[in-house]
Amino acid sequence: MSTVTVDDALAAIHIAWPDGEQATYPYIWLRDNCPTAFHPQTRERTLDLLEIPPDIRPKRVEQRDGTLQIDWAGPSHRSRFPLAWLRDHRPGRPAPDPAFVAPQPWRGGVAVHDFPTATAEMLSGDDGALMAWTLAVKRHGLGFVHGLADDPEAGVAVAARIGFLRETNFGRVFEVISKPDPNNLAYTALGLPLHTDLPNQTLVPGFQFLHCVANDAEGGDSVYADGFAIAEDLRRSDPEAFDLLASKRVPMRFHDETTDLRHHAPVIGLDATGALEEVRFNAHIADTFDMPAEDLSAFYRAYRAFIAATRDSAYLLRLRLEPGRMVVFDNRRVLHGRAAFDPASGARHLRGTYVDRGEWDSRIRVLSRRLAEGASG
Ligand code: OGA
Ligand code: ZN
Repeated sequence: MSTVTVDDALAAIHIAWPDGEQATYPYIWLRDNCPTAFHPQTRERTLDLLEIPPDIRPKRVEQRDGTLQIDWAGPSHRSRFPLAWLRDHRPGRPAPDPAFVAPQPWRGGVAVHDFPTATAEMLSGDDGALMAWTLAVKRHGLGFVHGLADDPEAGVAVAARIGFLRETNFGRVFEVISKPDPNNLAYTALGLPLHTDLPNQTLVPGFQFLHCVANDAEGGDSVYADGFAIAEDLRRSDPEAFDLLASKRVPMRFHDETTDLRHHAPVIGLDATGALEEVRFNAHIADTFDMPAEDLSAFYRAYRAFIAATRDSAYLLRLRLEPGRMVVFDNRRVLHGRAAFDPASGARHLRGTYVDRGEWDSRIRVLSRRLAEGASG
């Protein structure tokens, strides 16, 4: 039995569970989250917060059949909370999230087989396999799909099973081939130093899928690095560079005949707690730095330190993509690049698309719900 204490001075109810866990629930928070505050079908909140007196307080509080029942003073209303729900929603702690997984940084010693790998067949037919693989790819920021059908749509089909494809100025799906009139260095045969795609977008596309349709040309090997590992190491080894990269906004721009997409953002994006949220790095679409002159030399030093890390084998995973395989990575974390290739020596064709992080997480949550229902039903 939990111990429930009503604390009028704090305007909160305190619950202590038998295992020592405890939490404090302010009255206003409880009333705002009353189960009756939500539409029964849409589960969206229909209660108007301003209809609740700011100094609302309970008249009577009772524990009953695994619920906490509160009769509020003032306009008559009863709230009934399952105690298990209150335990999952302790203020100050994140509620359980099946899509939560802490990023696990990786460095140069890793091998391709250390990353989550699944066949297209497993991912299309087996919810459990899809959930395990999507979670693992989120943890490492990188994974592989093997056994794709000999069909240029096969990679896109896997991406679409996870979430809505993120359309960009390069289309819903983009063809990475050497083109006669390229609007992007990826569409040439040049080497591409490590980068993240489209940091010039307000919201950078999340997971990137590159399906290898053909790779017969000489050259064109792939390289990857975990931007979170580089950033975390810099935070320790060169805190001044880290702070500049996490605070100074760099202008990024892509422009062609029909598009002029610009955004200013730091290379290292942190969340409100200081944890890494994203890495935006693409030297070929960085625009002319426009920070004050007195900031430039320090910033250049920091930016060069980051670039130097992306050339350091201590961080690099190299591989050659084979036809019928696909690499999938978190484009807001993992940098990718390729060696130059000789288009006269054979065909090279990758087909790319993106699925944003939110869609990725949504798929994991829905799979988790479905698998739990399957297990209990
Ligand atoms: C890209 C890209 C890598 C490759 O299309 O953005 O980086 O191997 N391609 O061609
Ligand atoms: Zn790219």
